[in-house]
Amino acid sequence: MSEEQMLRLKPDADGIAAAAAILHAGGLVSFPTETVYGLGADARSDTAVAGIYAAKGRPSFNPLIVHVASLEAAEDYCEFGLVARKLAHAFWPGALTLVLPLKAKSGVSKLVTAGLETVAVRVPDHPLARDLLAAFGGPVAAPSANPSGRISPTTAAHVIAGLEGVIDAVVDGGSCKVGVESTIVSCVGAPALLREGGIPAEALEACLGHPLLRGADPELPTAPGQLASHYAPQGKVRLNAPCANPGEILLGFGPVDASLNLSSSGDLTEAAANLFACLHQLDAMGANAIAVSPVPDHGMGRAINDRLRRAAAPRG
Ligand code: TXA
Ligand code: MG
Repeated sequence: MSEEQMLRLKPDADGIAAAAAILHAGGLVSFPTETVYGLGADARSDTAVAGIYAAKGRPSFNPLIVHVASLEAAEDYCEFGLVARKLAHAFWPGALTLVLPLKAKSGVSKLVTAGLETVAVRVPDHPLARDLLAAFGGPVAAPSANPSGRISPTTAAHVIAGLEGVIDAVVDGGSCKVGVESTIVSCVGAPALLREGGIPAEALEACLGHPLLRGADPELPTAPGQLASHYAPQGKVRLNAPCANPGEILLGFGPVDASLNLSSSGDLTEAAANLFACLHQLDAMGANAIAVSPVPDHGMGRAINDRLRRAAAPRG
């Protein structure tokens, strides 16, 4: 795909129709969700899905999330038990991905599930994502629209900066309001937290009435894509820094003296929405060394700290 062919589609009916036509033709189109921008392809087409892995440089053992318009649509592809149904009713549309047993003859490409017998599925809560799913009328496989291992995109400009020349189009829907990826819960067996994200684990546990399995629990299945180094800006990242050392740029949280601040009022929801844009901005500034203020580890803070730890991890 040459650069001139990358379309920036408007967030209107024509833009959505053009994006749906690209999906029908087996192409790749990025679209906004409430969490981050996704890179969508027809989940039933091996060649279209292979295109996602190629464009992102993504390891093919790392499966993709299938996006659908409704719980009813999701039931075409996977089995819902009582717990999964309860979570779907409470949190869909929204920033929750459920990992569920894949139905036989689902029609979903094996490349989407990386050959697993489970599938990750979510109903996004963004008007443009929902319009696109309705116009396309099928399942859309979509990882975050960034080169593998790099910072996730929360604006169309981030998508273009990372994937220009290798995808067909992006629907420009402005900034994503949640700003971190969906929370992933496996409902294959006892419900287990696989990734912290846009819906705090506390909210899920309140709905279920008991804690989720997590962490070191030997029964916990793993999300194959949880690579230690991820979301990485170009510069070295130092966490829990009360202030910047000489040569470092401080990414602040709360009332600290920093040129870039996730939320100067200490609001975790605002901080999540700003996180990836701040990391992209640090790259644009050419920051070699980044110090990050401590972020409280509860509610949305847990997803923020998860992404920051991966941004700070040694690079592979
Ligand atoms: O908010 C989001 O979830 C965004 C938007 C675009 O929806 N998508 C996203 O996708 O974050 P991605 O590909 O960056 O992350 C998907 C995660 C990976 O860690 C992958 O390993 C895990 O979901 N995953 C997918 N299928 C799975 C499965 N069957 N079992 C366990 N983990 C799975
Ligand atoms: Mg991602």
